[in-house]
Amino acid sequence: MPRGEELYSGKAKSVFLTEDPARLVLEFRDDTSAFDGQKVDQLDRKGMINNRFNAFIMEHLEAQGVATHFDALLSDNESRVKRLDMIPAECVVRNVATGSLCRRLGVEEGLDLVPPTFEFFLKNDELHDPMINEYHIASFGWASSAEVESMKAQTFRVNEILSKLFADGGMILVDFKLEFGRFDGELLLGDEFTPDGCRLWDADTRKKLDKDRFRQGLGGVVEAYEEVALRLGVDLEATIAG
Ligand code: TMP
Ligand code: ASP
Repeated sequence: MPRGEELYSGKAKSVFLTEDPARLVLEFRDDTSAFDGQKVDQLDRKGMINNRFNAFIMEHLEAQGVATHFDALLSDNESRVKRLDMIPAECVVRNVATGSLCRRLGVEEGLDLVPPTFEFFLKNDELHDPMINEYHIASFGWASSAEVESMKAQTFRVNEILSKLFADGGMILVDFKLEFGRFDGELLLGDEFTPDGCRLWDADTRKKLDKDRFRQGLGGVVEAYEEVALRLGVDLEATIAG
């Protein structure tokens, strides 16, 4: 199914229409951005690694009973997905305190969060993705209370599944962000799961293996993403049927 007109271009992905109104093509570009688009760069091979990594994670989640928008890899940089009606609330789960949580609450970096904590953020770059709560989601009609409950439950389920997957590869899933959308009356996991939208630390050394390497100018960004993929057994050279 060839891609048609561009529907939307984000900071790291572009979205294209297809001849089927219920399907889209996601293109994972080499563009990398942080701080709501203030810091940008091109990182060779990042799009290919993230596209294949995302496919691997989405298929793993599907196999464990989490419904996602993912259909198939189409090429090195493209995947076909279901077209969702996106909910503008980003779901974040944290297993270890770092990032904006430490800045906001003054808690110690690296503190284990037991139980893991959950936060909603509004997807809005101009406003710098402000934190929101369930009352905001209800009052502005961004999602129903059943959808809020489902997003929380599914995000915690993803945390259980992926914490185990990364632990088996010698990594700690520190935190991550998910986005959900509606499809045929069902709530599906949308967007992507890649090292761009999560934090992963080596379990022994706590070396950062995610986009914090880019945000903090630590270098070796693509090398870290590739290492994560290889530790999970993602085949970055597999032939794609298309
Ligand atoms: P934070 O510490 O900056 O709030 O981010 C928490 C986690 O969620 C981190 O893994 C990055 C991810 N995240 C995004 O990828 N995009 C976003 O817009 C937000 C708010 C968080
Ligand atoms: N807040 C996210 C990050 O720093 C997304 C963004 O800033 O573009 O990665």
